[in-house]
Amino acid sequence: MQKTIVALLGSPLLGNTALLLHQAISGAEEAGATVVQYHVPLLKFSPCMEFGFCKKYPTCQIEDELTQRIIPTLANANGFIIATPVMTMGVPGALKTFIDRCQVFYYAKYIRKDPLVSAELRKTRKTLILSISGMNVPDNFDGLMQTVRTYCHIIDSPIMSSVFVKDMDTIVDLNTRPDILKEAHDKGVELAHAI
Ligand SMILES: Cc1cc2nc3c(=O)[nH]c(=O)nc-3n(C[C@H](O)[C@H](O)[C@H](O)COP(=O)(O)O)c2cc1C
Repeated sequence: MQKTIVALLGSPLLGNTALLLHQAISGAEEAGATVVQYHVPLLKFSPCMEFGFCKKYPTCQIEDELTQRIIPTLANANGFIIATPVMTMGVPGALKTFIDRCQVFYYAKYIRKDPLVSAELRKTRKTLILSISGMNVPDNFDGLMQTVRTYCHIIDSPIMSSVFVKDMDTIVDLNTRPDILKEAHDKGVELAHAI
């Protein structure tokens, strides 16, 4: 059966993070998956307004493309690739806002005990993380990963593998690092085979 991977790009640019994601998507597609990509900072959506609607119902009160089109696509995906730069030691604002809007998955799963993700899909969903930071310090990805790990629990798609690239301010152009690009490609292949 055809497997669908949702790829979330957290960078506003088509830069190094997008390049890394492109490699992983190519690998996943070569391995037979269909990839639906969302360039998150370019989407039009509102932040979570804490209306509390999703405490009672399996959807969000805010009528935008996130509620109408994207959240159902997330619920039905076989796997995820989250590709994002570090910003201010964490998840960039647009992607964090997107993640917060997925609170609809949280209430369904943990409070109402009626997950939006089917029992069948929950057995096999997995996520590949790709992340880039400008600096080269030991805890570069800690803040970002705390949010991303929690998100992956909430959407029932645990982290399977990751590629972390630090010191991007020195590397500048990821095209100079074919080893890293190949790693992202190969992890895309692995993800498609594993889901
Ligand atoms: C607003 C902003 C905040 C950033 N904050 C951090 C940071 O806290 N730590 C870090 O290592 N790099 C930080 N960076 C650097 C980016 O992670 C780095 O430039 C990355 O390569 C950007 O990837 P992109 O060009 O694909 O978007 C920041 C960049 C921006 C634009």
